[in-house]
Amino acid sequence: MSETSPRLRAELDGIPTYKPGRPAAADGPVAYKLSSNENPYPPLPGVLESAVAAAHAFNRYPDMACTGLMNELADRFGVPVEHLATGTGSVGVAQQLVQATSGPGDEVMYAWRSFEAYPIIAQISGARSVQVPLTAGEAHDLDAMAGAITDRTRLIFVCNPNNPTGTVVRRAELERFLDRVPSDVLVVLDEAYREFNRDLDVPDGIEIYRDRPNVAVLRTFSKAYGLAGLRVGFAVAHPPVAAALRKTAVPFGVSQLAQDAAVASLRAEDELLGRVGSLVCERARVYEGLVAQGWTVPETQANFVWLRLGERTADFAAVCDAAGVTVRPFPGEGVRITIGEEEANDLLLRTAGAFRKEL
Ligand SMILES: Cc1ncc(COP(=O)(O)O)c(C=O)c1O
Repeated sequence: MSETSPRLRAELDGIPTYKPGRPAAADGPVAYKLSSNENPYPPLPGVLESAVAAAHAFNRYPDMACTGLMNELADRFGVPVEHLATGTGSVGVAQQLVQATSGPGDEVMYAWRSFEAYPIIAQISGARSVQVPLTAGEAHDLDAMAGAITDRTRLIFVCNPNNPTGTVVRRAELERFLDRVPSDVLVVLDEAYREFNRDLDVPDGIEIYRDRPNVAVLRTFSKAYGLAGLRVGFAVAHPPVAAALRKTAVPFGVSQLAQDAAVASLRAEDELLGRVGSLVCERARVYEGLVAQGWTVPETQANFVWLRLGERTADFAAVCDAAGVTVRPFPGEGVRITIGEEEANDLLLRTAGAFRKEL
């Protein structure tokens, strides 16, 4: 037998690994998970029932075209079905968008720091990542991004609100930026946290994309809708891009449980968005609490807050772990803290306050 291992693509060398948020400790005292931007509420009874009903037929493949979900989305967002594509979470759809546009020698641009999957999916495609630093205010620097476009740029992610900083891009600056992007470069507005936004100057990507053929919008059922474990997200894009997404999709990637639960969630939207409203109130409480303790916290429109702790990042995360609340450290940079249930937020505030006093 030969000692040689199978030949793998050199592009995979040195690929960063995706670090999921640490789960809450199974044994410790009370443990809360504020590390993955999940929704802390359990599924609504009706949503759970749809998923359970679908589970009775999981010996069958799901509807590959996601017909019921596509029709529901088309109605809900007022877009034609041909402008929609679903995938295994919006990260799955983001990966398909990169595969559909970018290969070796091409450039994928995004702000940095932003969603940690972007460098991974760019590298898997063999494309080069162009990371444009955030401003001092932790927001997208759209002027610098426009200035960094080259004839190799194929796709630009604009994460709005931005993960992990929570900062937003407002309408006027986004329009100005889009006017500067060549029409053959795809701009992906990643709106995973859209439902948590309360800033009226932040545009709805689905309005922006309508008369811009090079804009696609990513949305997910994982955050506000609370279906992170079921893996379903979607894109709204013009027909050539949406068709490319259908070509790059893993066949049968979205399970019937996910499709039916997503439909049920859209039908229960009022109740779900009521829960989002409660999280937004909690966000204000956490934000104000941290500011009152003396922290510098960028204004956030997502379901998390960002503390740029630099060298103290690992210590802060360790103290939180010991207190029974897991946060998401980015070593040497900062900590992202998801807004969770009231008790979790209380515990986080107490822990952050004690840490602050020791500084
Ligand atoms: C900005 C952003 N986009 C996309 C995703 C992917 O979410 P999902 O694949 O669960 O839809 C996330 C998840 O953390 C995110 O933060």
